[in-house]
Amino acid sequence: MPIVEVRSLSYTYPGSTKPTLTNVNFSVEEGEFILLTGPSGCGKTTLCRCLNGLIPNSYGGEFNGQVIVDGLVTTEHPVYEIAQHVGLVFQNPENELFCTSVEREVAFGPENLALPREEIRKRVEESLAMVGISHLRDKSPEELSGGEQQKVAIAALLAMKPKILVLDEPTANLDPASAQSVLNVLLKLNEESGVTTILVEHRLEMVAHMAHRCAIPQ
Ligand SMILES: Nc1ncnc2c1ncn2[C@@H]1O[C@H](COP(=O)(O)OP(=O)(O)OP(=O)(O)O)[C@@H](O)[C@H]1O
Ligand SMILES: [Mg+2]
Repeated sequence: MPIVEVRSLSYTYPGSTKPTLTNVNFSVEEGEFILLTGPSGCGKTTLCRCLNGLIPNSYGGEFNGQVIVDGLVTTEHPVYEIAQHVGLVFQNPENELFCTSVEREVAFGPENLALPREEIRKRVEESLAMVGISHLRDKSPEELSGGEQQKVAIAALLAMKPKILVLDEPTANLDPASAQSVLNVLLKLNEESGVTTILVEHRLEMVAHMAHRCAIPQ
């Protein structure tokens, strides 16, 4: 069974007269690395919001069809529950980071799940190590570079142990070297930990070789 299934998905934002997504259909198998690309305004970010249930649960609007992630029909579960299955990374990590240290930031999600202290500690250690930022644990996210911040955002999601990562242009504001470093982390997570990855990315020359498949919403 696919881990992501999008069936006849059409969506119109509240107040809009024109649909942003019209009859989108695709499925993703567990462990796949999918590249999502296409011209500005074609609906990539909108599709990402559908994949973690922000649309329609937080946005409203006219939603038709079905999105099923890790067995959950998104319209039937709250966003916080879907977030334990689908981690969503945005363009600007600084908007997502709010704790005083990297370690606190990564612990935040598991703490909110009220997990035992020992489990939280283990998840923080593992997530920092998977992303290669254990040495940054005591730093304040504010004093990090954009690429380091994006890695903190990814580690914070990994601590929730999602099976699926959706990344909406995670390298858009990074210099080429930092972008490559973040992309390498994604590749490693996919290859070594089997995290199903859906990446929206414009820098096709950097990512085309990483992806198993490429899709263009239209
Ligand atoms: N919150 C919103 N409310 C109303 N319309 C929106 C909203 N967000 C996006 N749209 C509209 O939906 C369409 C698709 O936007 P979206 O941001 O999904 O495109 P995109 O493919 O991610 O573009 P880009 O490559 O520039 O990031 C656009 O016409 C946009 O104006
Ligand atoms: Mg976008």
